[in-house]
Amino acid sequence: METLIPIINRLQEVFLTVGADVIQLPQIVVVGSQSSGKSSVLESLVGRDFLPRGSGIVTRRPLVLQLINVAPLEQRRQAENGIKAEEWGTFLHCKGQVFADFAEIRNEIEKETERSSGDNKGISPEPIYLKIFSSKVLNLTLVDLPGITKVPVGDQPEDIEAQVQEMIQSFISNPNSLILAVSPANSDLATSEALKLARDVDPDGRRTLLVVSKLDLMDAGTDALEVLLGRVIPVRLGIIGVVNRSQHDINTQKSLEESLRGEQAFLQRHYPSLASRCGSRHLAKTLSRLLMHHIRDCLPELKSRVTALSGQYQARLSSYGRPVEDHSTTLLHIVTKFASDYCNTIEGTPRYIQTTELCGGARICY
Ligand code: GDP
Ligand code: NA
Ligand code: MG
Repeated sequence: METLIPIINRLQEVFLTVGADVIQLPQIVVVGSQSSGKSSVLESLVGRDFLPRGSGIVTRRPLVLQLINVAPLEQRRQAENGIKAEEWGTFLHCKGQVFADFAEIRNEIEKETERSSGDNKGISPEPIYLKIFSSKVLNLTLVDLPGITKVPVGDQPEDIEAQVQEMIQSFISNPNSLILAVSPANSDLATSEALKLARDVDPDGRRTLLVVSKLDLMDAGTDALEVLLGRVIPVRLGIIGVVNRSQHDINTQKSLEESLRGEQAFLQRHYPSLASRCGSRHLAKTLSRLLMHHIRDCLPELKSRVTALSGQYQARLSSYGRPVEDHSTTLLHIVTKFASDYCNTIEGTPRYIQTTELCGGARICY
């Protein structure tokens, strides 16, 4: 996602000058059955270890994770306040407290989960709100959800299945949600609860991406080739196979980098023809591309907004009888340039870096 960061940040800055919320990036929501690997997938997207993961029901409340891109300046200001970290987190429920240690973030999620849902597998629809500040992230919201489960255990209510489904639906029915449906490769895709739920709210498959996890856990003699090629169930936005860290990897604290290397080696060995279209890195790239598509789709509206605003201000200013420079032309130029550059660079190295520089030169002072 790193190439996207400067571009989107610049664009968002520009958008702010013509009225906030013109461009709202979709929030990314993970959906799947219990222990399919949802939290693992999210962690590898963020590139940090901070989510509770494990067998059985671990994620028991929605976690709304807001990634916030901070400039180096802000990092320095934090350093002056005694926070040496480059990346840090804050929770809505811990006012004023800054978490510089990601292991502590995980502890706090666990503690807060127990506070509202008890320590015996209970669930709660009340989200935990976590912000992570870093210069390496996109301004993006990710949502981790409890998994779909059928049979109540511990303190879970009789209707646990319905409750979890309702919780999931409340997030994925938002048309501005991109759904990451996570299905393990070692169970039949036709029975995928994740895809079923996604279909209900997104019948045309415009905002659902299928992630096939646990490729490494398939029975000997079977592979996921047919599934990954979309021959079993086609998924419009794509099907991406991944290998996350196993429970053993978690217990022995295997690092994310090491795990990514292992994943790539596994894919090369078992799915050489698909290796470049699978894996956690490719998933991150695909999401970036989808976000770019989204921005592109927002551009026409942005353009007409700029034009309208410009007209208004011109009219008002000329009623004062003073000629003015038309800054909005610059802005329109940026938007147009972005759109045309973008069209040439769906994949590949971004030529739109030039646009970033262009944006950097623009000063809009209404
Ligand atoms: P969630 O319940 O869907 O959030 O799943 P988690 O991310 O908590 O993972 C559940 C368990 O499955 C953990 O023990 C993970 O280590 C393990 N796991 C997840 N993905 C994979 C994978 O791709 N391969 C292997 N071997 N284990 C995985
Ligand atoms: Na789990
Ligand atoms: Mg989880």
